[in-house]
Amino acid sequence: MAALPADPPPVALITGCTSGIGLAAAEDLAGKVQRLVLVGRSREKLDQLAGRLAGRGAALEVIVGELGERAAVRAVAEAFLAAHDRLDLLVNNAGVYNQERKLTADGVEETFAVNHLGYFDLTLRLLPALRAAAAARPPARVVNVASDAHKAGTMAWDDLERAGAYAQGWPSYGQSKLANILFTRELARRLGPAPIVAHALHPGFVNTGFARNNGWLGNFIMNISRPFQRSPADAARTISYLAFDPLPAQSSGGYWYKERPSRPTAAAQDPAAAARLWALSLERCGFGSDPLPA
Ligand SMILES: NC(=O)c1ccc[n+]([C@@H]2O[C@H](COP(=O)([O-])OP(=O)(O)OC[C@H]3O[C@@H](n4cnc5c(N)ncnc54)[C@H](OP(=O)(O)O)[C@@H]3O)[C@@H](O)[C@H]2O)c1
Repeated sequence: MAALPADPPPVALITGCTSGIGLAAAEDLAGKVQRLVLVGRSREKLDQLAGRLAGRGAALEVIVGELGERAAVRAVAEAFLAAHDRLDLLVNNAGVYNQERKLTADGVEETFAVNHLGYFDLTLRLLPALRAAAAARPPARVVNVASDAHKAGTMAWDDLERAGAYAQGWPSYGQSKLANILFTRELARRLGPAPIVAHALHPGFVNTGFARNNGWLGNFIMNISRPFQRSPADAARTISYLAFDPLPAQSSGGYWYKERPSRPTAAAQDPAAAARLWALSLERCGFGSDPLPA
């Protein structure tokens, strides 16, 4: 069994770990934390992953959940909180790109439901455990995998689910990744001096399963652009950096690329947009009261 580093975080949770960047990050985290909770929508894939990671150092657990559906996210959080009173590291990574508009079982446009509401809902429901970890071993950390695709995104406030005109996947995907950064910044602002830091990152253009759920075209584009893509392990290095390095522990609300601070667009830094997104996300996720009032 691999030796853990000195003072490894006791408990970490990662989503979207059955493929691509999340899989590479899980491989890395499994050698650096005491207990790693793997969250995904396929029990079979999670069990396979747990088998693959066994012996790297961390104790492994799996929680099955469809992160685009609100009841399922609640159930994931409840399952976690029933077994753990602390969460030292949360990596929100699960994401989807759809060329054609698709709805979840809740009837919500999937990109918005998974990429943004999934991050928001899970993080806020796990807040008590993040707070407990932060009190015992500060800081607790939240790492949100966003994207430079936010640069092509705008918040379509009157039609966030693009029911009016889907116009292929990019506007919706770009919006969801813009939402990741707005959420991270608002989360950091609301946490204030609490010893929980939150950062977002751009992983680069990475050779993963991303967009391959879109028929031959998605596969074709990912295949011909392979020479320009980074490996998942390279991309996962930024997750690891934000999870363990002392430097990002000294700030919060940042946007990072290749282990360096990066500047998101002005739209991603708009505090009014971040507050508006927070309020409507609370409602969409069914929070009766705000667990982190401004
Ligand atoms: N690849 C890139 O170039 C790139 C660039 C910028 C940002 N990103 C971001 O990086 C993150 C990871 O993407 P990736 O490139 O590694 O893609 P990927 O290989 O397709 O992995 C996506 C992961 O998310 C999970 N997932 C998708 N929908 C889900 C749902 N409804 N419920 C639960 N899990 C779900 C997938 O689970 P299954 O295995 O069950 O499908 C998979 O584990 C995403 O947030 C993406 O936006 C990627």
